[in-house]
Amino acid sequence: MIILSVETSCDETSVAITKDGKEVLSNAVLSQIKTHERFGGVVPEIASRAHIEMMLYMFEQAMKDANVTVKDIDLVAVTQGPGLIGSLLVGINAAATFAYANDLPIIGVNHLIGHIYASQINHEMRFPSLCLLVSGGHTELLLIKDHMDIEILGTTLDDAVGEAYDKVGRILGLNYPAGPIVDKLAHIGEIKYKLPKPYLKNEPFNFSFSGLKSAVLNLVHNMKQRNETFKVEDVCASFQDVVTEVLVEKTYAAAKELNVKQVIVAGGVSANKGLRHRLVSTITDFEVIFPEFQYCTDQAAMIGIAAYYQNKIQQAENKYGIKGTSSLA
Ligand code: KG4
Ligand code: ZN
Repeated sequence: MIILSVETSCDETSVAITKDGKEVLSNAVLSQIKTHERFGGVVPEIASRAHIEMMLYMFEQAMKDANVTVKDIDLVAVTQGPGLIGSLLVGINAAATFAYANDLPIIGVNHLIGHIYASQINHEMRFPSLCLLVSGGHTELLLIKDHMDIEILGTTLDDAVGEAYDKVGRILGLNYPAGPIVDKLAHIGEIKYKLPKPYLKNEPFNFSFSGLKSAVLNLVHNMKQRNETFKVEDVCASFQDVVTEVLVEKTYAAAKELNVKQVIVAGGVSANKGLRHRLVSTITDFEVIFPEFQYCTDQAAMIGIAAYYQNKIQQAENKYGIKGTSSLA
C-alpha cells in the first residue's frame, strides 16, 4: 500500500510517500526555522502563511523523489492534531483537496502517534512497549498494548522537555530551537552546577521541568549580578545531566513495573545524544529503540507509517466490528 502523507502541525511543511508501513520512498521536509528564528519562537500566523506558499511544491517534490504518480497512491494521510490550528488547517485542506480531486480515501493521524511510529521505520515494534515521548509540546510516558492501543501513564505537569531546552537556551542567549545547541554544548561542558532534580516521588509517571528551568534562570542571573565569569557549556552540561537522569530513571522504573518487551523513545528530543547514551547505558535489560535522527523531529514519513496501521485497524473494525481505538486518537 502506497500512502501520501502530509504534516504541517508546526513549522515544518512536509509531504512523504511511504510503502506498507515500513519503507520511506520519499520524505520532503521544508523547515521554516530561519523565518521564525528572529522572533525566538514559532509565530503561528507566519507559519500558516509559509505552509500555504510551499505546500504544492512539497507535494510535487515528494512524488518526484519517490518516482510515483497519482495513480500509484492508495491512501492519503494527514496530521489532524495536536498542533497550531492555522498550520494544521493548511495541511488538512491540501490533503483533503488532493484526495477529493483524485478520488482517494483520506485519514487523519494524531501527530504524537506519528512520532511513536517513526521507530517502526528502522525497527519492529514489540508489544507491550513503553514509550517515552519527548517533544517541544509534549512529555509523556505511554503504555502501548498493541498497534493503536495506547494508554497514557503520565505527562508533564508544566513545561514539556523540548520547551524547557528551548527556554534554557533563550536564557543563555542561544538561537531557537535551542535543544540541539544545548545538547552539543553539553558535550563539551563540565557538570559544575548543582540543580534540583524533579523526581515527583509520589507521581512516578509524571514530570515537571519548570522548577529546573527557573533554577537555571536564577543561577545565570546571580552569576551575572556578581560579575562572575561562567561558561555557557557548563550550564548546558549541568542542565542536561539532570534532565536526562530524571527521564531515564523514570522510564526505567516504569519499564520494570509494567514488565514491557521494549522501550520506545520518540519526539524531537529523542535526537538528544546525551539522552540516547544514558538510556542505552542504564536500561540494559530492555530493548531500547529510537527513530533514525532524520525521523526524530517533525516530518510526514512518520504520519504515513502510522496511517498504514491505523488504516488496517479501521478496515478490520468496518469488516468485523473489532474495536482498536487509542486514547490519543
Ligand atoms: O517533535 P518536534 O520536532 O516538534 C514537536 O512536536 O514539538 O520537537 C521539537 C523540539 C524542540 O523543542 C527542540 O528544541 C527539541 O525538540 N530538540 C532537542 C534536540 N533536537 C530537537 N532537544 C534536545 N536535544 C536535541 N538534540
Ligand atoms: Zn512533533
